[in-house]
Amino acid sequence: MAHDRPVEDPYGLAARAAAELCARAGVERYDLAIVLGSGWREGAAALGEPESVVVASTLPGFVAPSVAGHDGAILTVRHAGRTVALVSGRVHLYEGHDAHRVVHPVRTVVAAGARTVVLTNAAGSIDPAIGPGSVVVVADHLNLTGTSPLEGPVPPAPFAGRFVDLTDLYSRRARQRLGEVAALPEGVYLGLRGPHYETPAEIEMARRLGATLVGMSTVLEAIAARHLGAEVVGLSLVSNFAAGVSPAPLDHREVLEAGQRAATSLGELLARLVPVL
Ligand code: HPA
Repeated sequence: MAHDRPVEDPYGLAARAAAELCARAGVERYDLAIVLGSGWREGAAALGEPESVVVASTLPGFVAPSVAGHDGAILTVRHAGRTVALVSGRVHLYEGHDAHRVVHPVRTVVAAGARTVVLTNAAGSIDPAIGPGSVVVVADHLNLTGTSPLEGPVPPAPFAGRFVDLTDLYSRRARQRLGEVAALPEGVYLGLRGPHYETPAEIEMARRLGATLVGMSTVLEAIAARHLGAEVVGLSLVSNFAAGVSPAPLDHREVLEAGQRAATSLGELLARLVPVL
């Protein structure tokens, strides 16, 4: 259950946060946003020295994250002529936040102009052929969180209504462009609430449902970004084999360490990706 107050007028709140972000960062508008999941932050340094760092919890509607490796800030970098917002410090359902709070950073950067939103995360791999350290392009998702960022009142005009088409949620066009700069496997990401890791039986269920990856983020943000008309890209760093895929027990430290080990290659990937998106 969410234990913060429900977000009233989430679109107005995102517009206010976006105006303040742009003013404080000295940016007219962003072209692209990258939400940095566990482990991706170190790699993002490859995009260049940030021009500004805005502490997220000082912006309207943002809450301080409570997960190690998720401190909240929006960094502005210019890379290949694009103005990029790097969002670190994701909030999750399992911290007790509702879906609107979870997607507020994404609504904010889209309101600040970003037409493309890259959602990165660390995930468990269900495919024995895709091991820790691999990066997988999210081709589609299964939202098993039991919630949606479009729950609640009808989005106000001029926003699209609540019945959003998700047929091409993880943009095929963007995946093709990504394929031109990096040869990466594609997979289906199954999003759960967590924060516990799964049982081997749950992972077997996920495999039979067609999932390649399992994690606790991304799906709600993808829906919210798509609803606002942004192009969505999802990238998962495999931090571990999901429960039962390998006999080893799961550990959150493993998730963070996988990111640190992969930082250089994640950074190079983001640097190659930004110019083609
Ligand atoms: N399960 C769920 N979420 C995760 C995992 C996992 O195995 N690894 C990283 N995030």
